[in-house]
Amino acid sequence: MEKKVFKTYEEMSAYAAQMVCDLVNGKPNAVLGLPTGGTPVGMYENIRKMYQEGKMDFENVTTFNLDEYLGLTHDHPQSYYYFMNQNLYSGVNLKPENINIPSGTASDFEAECKSYDAKIDAKGGIDLMILGIGPNGHIGFNEPAEILSGPTHTVDLTRETIEANARFFDSIDDVPTKAITMGVGSILKAKKILMLVSGASKQKVAKELFSGDVTTNNPSTLLQLHRDVVVLMDEAADGQ
Ligand code: GLP
Repeated sequence: MEKKVFKTYEEMSAYAAQMVCDLVNGKPNAVLGLPTGGTPVGMYENIRKMYQEGKMDFENVTTFNLDEYLGLTHDHPQSYYYFMNQNLYSGVNLKPENINIPSGTASDFEAECKSYDAKIDAKGGIDLMILGIGPNGHIGFNEPAEILSGPTHTVDLTRETIEANARFFDSIDDVPTKAITMGVGSILKAKKILMLVSGASKQKVAKELFSGDVTTNNPSTLLQLHRDVVVLMDEAADGQ
């Protein structure tokens, strides 16, 4: 795994956006795996800017988001669809049919999970999977557990994640307790992985990420098994 540390969050975000720009310019029909959360907001801002400046074209790009809360519709301000619309979809020329995000309101979740992975495969797999990391080491919504699921699946969120994400909701009681997420298998199948880590609250899990040990208690450590991972950190997360 390659690690790059940046003085600031802004520098890290600009670098991440440039990586996406380079990929899309080299492969106009690239397939991107995309994260939500506070960390990638700066990257999306840079991507929108680069698009407006004519440096990138999303005409033939396909996106697959990592996860979604169960029960939240697209127009719910805390749904990940809404987040993505605000941060990316509404600001670039992605075609609606090339935007994919697991449905949090499917009538049959088993079918939804299967078809999500099948759609990724049908597109030839993900070229670049961009990830954030939860304070407990989760990637997507793959929470620390004895057993992790490979494919896309539904999951019960841990108390720690509900508490960490409560800041986006009016009250902690409004945070959904379940989600649908790409599994660690779906993530590790990506050709290249880019992880963004920001802030002192991520120091502990970020250190474990480079420990050489793999444990399902910190799902991000599984990334050490992938052959092409770049981790971008700001100094606060690196803590060295
Ligand atoms: C959520 C998402 C994760 C994301 C995490 C970290 O739980 N499901 O994909 O990595 O938040 O968010 P933040 O960047 O706000 O710390």
